[in-house]
Amino acid sequence: MFEAAARARLDPAHYRYFSGGAGEEVTLRANETAFQRICLLPRVLRGTGKLQTDVTLFGNRAAMPVLVAPTAFHRLAHPEGERATARAAASAETIMIVSMAATVAVGDIAAAAPGARLWFQLYVQPDLDFTRTVIRRAEAAGCTVLVVTVDSPARGRREHDHGFHDLPDGMYCENLRDGDRVRPIAMMPELTWEHLAVLRRLTDLPIVVKGVLRPDDARLALDHGADGIVVSNHGGRQIDTVPATIDVLPEIAAAVAGAVPVLLDGGVRRGTDVLKALALGADAVAVGRPVLWGLAADGERGVDSVLRTFREEVEHALTMCGCASLRDLGPGLVRR
Ligand code: FNR
Repeated sequence: MFEAAARARLDPAHYRYFSGGAGEEVTLRANETAFQRICLLPRVLRGTGKLQTDVTLFGNRAAMPVLVAPTAFHRLAHPEGERATARAAASAETIMIVSMAATVAVGDIAAAAPGARLWFQLYVQPDLDFTRTVIRRAEAAGCTVLVVTVDSPARGRREHDHGFHDLPDGMYCENLRDGDRVRPIAMMPELTWEHLAVLRRLTDLPIVVKGVLRPDDARLALDHGADGIVVSNHGGRQIDTVPATIDVLPEIAAAVAGAVPVLLDGGVRRGTDVLKALALGADAVAVGRPVLWGLAADGERGVDSVLRTFREEVEHALTMCGCASLRDLGPGLVRR
């Protein structure tokens, strides 16, 4: 519904940029269909009354376990861009992970959305001094967690967004401003686990590693001091034919064994998807495209509606499954 409204409003090239994935989009589709193949097994007569739907991650409370994933270029979707998204996230009392590739500077996003709970997503840049500058901006804006994206040693080959090359005039990745120029975002194939230690020296914020798809990498992340993990394939945008995130979640959650929070993104479209992810070991999920569709359809109000719908669907699904609390969700609730 929101996607159709967004598509009707967006420049076709921008729609394809938001919607598209890598290669033949096998993973993009799989992220959603994998959720559809998992069944819920509701419990009956469990007497759920008032529901507990809030989560606390790194000391940040969110009213629901659905966060806003970091996505680039919100001003392509709506003139207010990330400001509108952040206001809607604040109203929904949930966390917004601000993309390093935001088209509004992180400090301006924070100023536009009092009460917003912001985290900051980083691509480590070859110039570590500049990387530190960007992190300082996020810290000064009040971001409380650093989410380091590690699934992008190169840009994804997205054959479907060939109509989109450059941001329109006057639109920039404001977090990469350096004096009167804006630096391009560099992808770094040379990044290694040792860079986590480097980041640790650059900031006191908790560091969450985004883009893990294997249990051995999850353990390496823990060994290298990661404070959290996001199971993510970048919404199917980086390399095609990698598995759907929900399919690899259980083994990663088992490897992490509760040592740090585990988040998941990719293909979460319904409250029932949220329950399935939590049942299979995630502490929370994040949503990318649904937020972009709400933003393109109707700005802040559109994102409000999307987040409110997730909230209502999560509450409804909990009630229908006989769970009064997110803590009641476990593997017994699903059949794969
Ligand atoms: C993204 N994603 C992303 N991730 C990141 O770490 N930094 C970024 O700048 C972006 N930019 C971005 C742009 C667009 C248009 C999309 C769709 C995605 C990936 C994002 O954080 C998340 O992993 C996926 O969007 C989750 O999948 P769904 O919810 O879109 O299916």
